[in-house]
Amino acid sequence: MGEVDPAFIQDAQHRPKLAVIEAEGIPLIDLSSANASNHVSQIADASKNWGFFQVINHGVPSESRRKIEDAARKFFALPLEEKRKVNRDEVNPLGYYDSELTKNVRDWKEVFDFVVSTPTVIPVSPDPDDKELKELTNQWPQYPPELREVCEEYAREMEKLAFKLLGLISLSLGLPENRFNLFFEESTNFVRLNHYPPCPIPHLALGVGRHKDGGALTILAQDDVGGLEVKRKTDGEWIRVKPTPDAYIINVGDIIQVWSNDTYESVEHRVMVNSERERFSIPFFFNPGHRVWVQPLEELTKGEKPKYRAYNWGKFFATRKHSNFKKLDVENIQISHFKASE
Ligand code: OGA
Ligand code: NI
Repeated sequence: MGEVDPAFIQDAQHRPKLAVIEAEGIPLIDLSSANASNHVSQIADASKNWGFFQVINHGVPSESRRKIEDAARKFFALPLEEKRKVNRDEVNPLGYYDSELTKNVRDWKEVFDFVVSTPTVIPVSPDPDDKELKELTNQWPQYPPELREVCEEYAREMEKLAFKLLGLISLSLGLPENRFNLFFEESTNFVRLNHYPPCPIPHLALGVGRHKDGGALTILAQDDVGGLEVKRKTDGEWIRVKPTPDAYIINVGDIIQVWSNDTYESVEHRVMVNSERERFSIPFFFNPGHRVWVQPLEELTKGEKPKYRAYNWGKFFATRKHSNFKKLDVENIQISHFKASE
């Protein structure tokens, strides 16, 4: 990334503290069937208290993860002009990208995005009156040649785990296990390969600035370097999530916050970089279909007012995808914009 562009510099109040607090508190849930009777209550507690948890014995073959991690490493090691052959642009939001903005500050990272289902359909524009749709198509690089296959295999494993977790979350809210499943027909799931190169100014920049994930659930594979920080709900302190080999980090996204009428909250997180070691991570974003109107479920607002007005997921997604390219004068779209008036 060459010499340091001021676009990477965080405002003073958002700069990372170099004295890291490592979390013992983020719950580790063993999903093996021997523990099945505890899963629902563990997930309820973790989702309420942290919005984050890690899972082990999750059923995803470690081989499938190793293969995608190896292929990601090979891809990001290519010369920039090779990677730019699959560059994402205003028309196609998938592929390679090295200048993403989070809250108008540039992230110290490069990414490769692909969708899980083909075709994946989303609205062409954020404009609510524009009904035109488009099919997203993945761009696969020539090298490494196995990238496509290992990505597709990994994505299938992620979907299986996502539905398992969705069922447990549904049960943990006192709902039938399959209550949310219909929303995920025509889902807009995508996977991101993240590479965080060593950074000469780790005290001024972030790998990803503070944000909440806009979808339903995120399943993250992080390597052994560490750098993910979660905002602790009890005191607002940034807590580092310690890498656990072969575990996945799960977080509740904005959509589950809205469906649950704030019973569960989508928690802010960010990524610190360091001056010595590059870091790789792979989030899977579990998202509903573009037609879905997201709103608090009736079963969960009994006696209470819904805290959000319904919003269309496709338009929300298209707005986010669109705005990541530009410095905006206004805040990016957030669920708080759909808060019902008191
Ligand atoms: C994200 C994210 C965390 C990480 O991409 O939304 O929070 O560790 N990534 O890469
Ligand atoms: Ni995130």
